[in-house]
Amino acid sequence: MSRYIPINAQDALDKLKAKKKQISIGLATIAALLILFFVFFTKSSEIPECQDCKSYGPLKPAYKGSLDLIFENKDYQLSVIEKLAGAIRIPTQIYDETPPPDLSIPLKDDPNYKNFSLLHTYLESTFPLVYSKFIVEKINGAGLLLTWHPKHIPKDSKPFLLMAHQDVVPFDPSTVSRWTYPPFSGHYDKKTDTLYGRGSTDTKKLLISHLEALELLIAANWEPSKRPILLSYGFDEERGGIDGASAIAKFILERYGPDSIYGLIDEGGETGYLGDNGFIGSPVTAEKGYLDAIITLNTKGGHSSIPPDHTSIGIISELNYLLEKNPYDPSIAVNNPALEAVQCRALYDKSFFGDVTKGFKSGRLGKLTNAVNNHLGYRYFFRTSQAIDIIKGGVKANALPEQVTVLVNNRININSSVNETLVHILDLVSEVADKYDLSIKLERSSNASELKSGKNGEFVVVVRGELEPAPISPTAGDEMWEIIAGTIVNTYSSSFFGNNTEVYVAPSLTTGNTDTKYFWDLTKRIYRFSGSLHVNGSNAHTVDEKTTGKSIISCLAFVYQIIGNIDKYT
Ligand SMILES: *[C@@H]1O[C@H](CO)[C@@H](O)[C@H](O)[C@H]1NC(C)=O
Ligand SMILES: *[C@@H]1O[C@H](CO)[C@@H](O)[C@H](O)[C@H]1NC(C)=O
Ligand SMILES: *[C@@H]1O[C@H](CO)[C@@H](O)[C@H](O)[C@H]1NC(C)=O
Ligand SMILES: *[C@@H]1O[C@H](CO)[C@@H](O)[C@H](O)[C@H]1NC(C)=O
Ligand SMILES: *[C@@H]1O[C@H](CO)[C@@H](O)[C@H](O)[C@H]1NC(C)=O
Ligand SMILES: *[C@@H]1O[C@H](CO)[C@@H](O)[C@H](O)[C@H]1NC(C)=O
Ligand SMILES: [Zn+2]
Repeated sequence: MSRYIPINAQDALDKLKAKKKQISIGLATIAALLILFFVFFTKSSEIPECQDCKSYGPLKPAYKGSLDLIFENKDYQLSVIEKLAGAIRIPTQIYDETPPPDLSIPLKDDPNYKNFSLLHTYLESTFPLVYSKFIVEKINGAGLLLTWHPKHIPKDSKPFLLMAHQDVVPFDPSTVSRWTYPPFSGHYDKKTDTLYGRGSTDTKKLLISHLEALELLIAANWEPSKRPILLSYGFDEERGGIDGASAIAKFILERYGPDSIYGLIDEGGETGYLGDNGFIGSPVTAEKGYLDAIITLNTKGGHSSIPPDHTSIGIISELNYLLEKNPYDPSIAVNNPALEAVQCRALYDKSFFGDVTKGFKSGRLGKLTNAVNNHLGYRYFFRTSQAIDIIKGGVKANALPEQVTVLVNNRININSSVNETLVHILDLVSEVADKYDLSIKLERSSNASELKSGKNGEFVVVVRGELEPAPISPTAGDEMWEIIAGTIVNTYSSSFFGNNTEVYVAPSLTTGNTDTKYFWDLTKRIYRFSGSLHVNGSNAHTVDEKTTGKSIISCLAFVYQIIGNIDKYT
């Protein structure tokens, strides 16, 4: 595509460093022509061009060290797979109702967290060099914060932070027979290069890759030259990080202050395989917002032989019907990073949906909106979702239901807000309340207010877990972003991935949330990307969660390089 301006990441970094040098007249002229060209060709399109896709060359590793060992030595690779299998065999399940660790007793005696204590012991014995170099702090009982700050690095140097989580989604015992191997067996099938088990993909693969990369680096006497390295491992990401990452983030904020972290990388995006077309790495630079609306309707009870025309269940059904009849409008914000990810695929992945590709080619946002709306995999990148997930009401065949409750879960589009979402819900509640003369009470962070009063009963709308969409992390032109991009290209250009060396990079968005939501005050450079090769059917959160040796090694190779690159090139 002629409209793409390839940038070599190495050159780009050199340019960043050489900013103060005078730009020659020749270069300025070329730049001006390029800008004119760009403006001329894009003004007719409502859809911005990809900034990033195909823009980066491989970034030469600042420290190559053991990279060949990682990519080429089969015995070494098996030893890494075995280290991950060992971590999978320790079931660190976290349930929604698990209480926080009991800080009055040792972790190993806390029935809910005994296994986390076992995992800590396992990590310490498996990565002795990391545990000797880093200061290891337990935060809120089971959280781990590891710090490596060599003496020669100035106190005020901003640390680089790597994150993952120790907990896994519980497995449902009723599904045990559907697992090819038991969920915590950590079974590795050499023939298919598949490692089975809960946590294999979400996210012990990343946790073990961090520690293994650092173990290798320390063994070779590498040490950071400019920035301290922090590792943060929460213990309840899978129920929102309320006791784990939230406490670690608070601890870091108290120790270092606001905006004190250089940048962070947590779980999130991966690298997709486009068949003959190459690979696409998608670091996630934005996260949708969140809101649960728990809507209860209280009405008069009575004998069900003389019912009113509408019971509370009937009325709330009308609300459910209205909610689903009025979904949120799709709206493609031009700064939505998913636009880049989808556009990059539409251009370079030949198996991609034709109508989405046509939408991009048309340059018309309306046409593109219709096209992405028809694909479940992409629809919710560009609009607020709603799902009526829970309904409860009624107790007896001959008694009118006095109370019924529904829970509506919403993931908020990145150019929308908690307020806009709540207004949408309350508008529909009001419509029903007006029709049946019902009151509406809103409860938000323990504040209750009556929005409307009625005679026949009361809606109580409780707002839970409200979270605005995340700030969007910087991409093209940002030093850390360009290092990540160049590192992705270098990793996937390795012959380990075959001779297919086309590697694309595009930012993306997650429709879910990660532990990073507690770190907004610490840095604007928040990237959610494990570096690993995406595995088809890795089944995160469900039966037969699995990964491959290849995916583990790709994750390790990326992490190994990014540690050296961030230290050297920033
Ligand atoms: C802890 O591990 C044991 C097996 O080692 C397992 O039976 C138990 O369910 C685990 N506890 C939790 C909370 O995951
Ligand atoms: C994943 O599946 C798709 C189609 O279902 C296929 O085209 C692609 O090659 C697969 N990727 C890998 C890495 O096997
Ligand atoms: C979101 O973006 C779309 C397209 O750019 C725009 O039409 C809409 O007004 C935006 N919404 C908000 C709340 O900013
Ligand atoms: C939404 O924001 C507007 C304007 O700031 C405010 O008047 C309104 O009360 C808010 N609505 C809710 C439900 O918070
Ligand atoms: C009630 O809301 C106000 C602002 O709307 C807030 O400052 C206050 O903390 C809230 N009260 C409670 C108990 O959360
Ligand atoms: C890569 O190319 C070389 C020769 O150019 C060939 O020997 C080798 O088998 C190829 N590897 C893969 C994985 O296709
Ligand atoms: Zn996870």
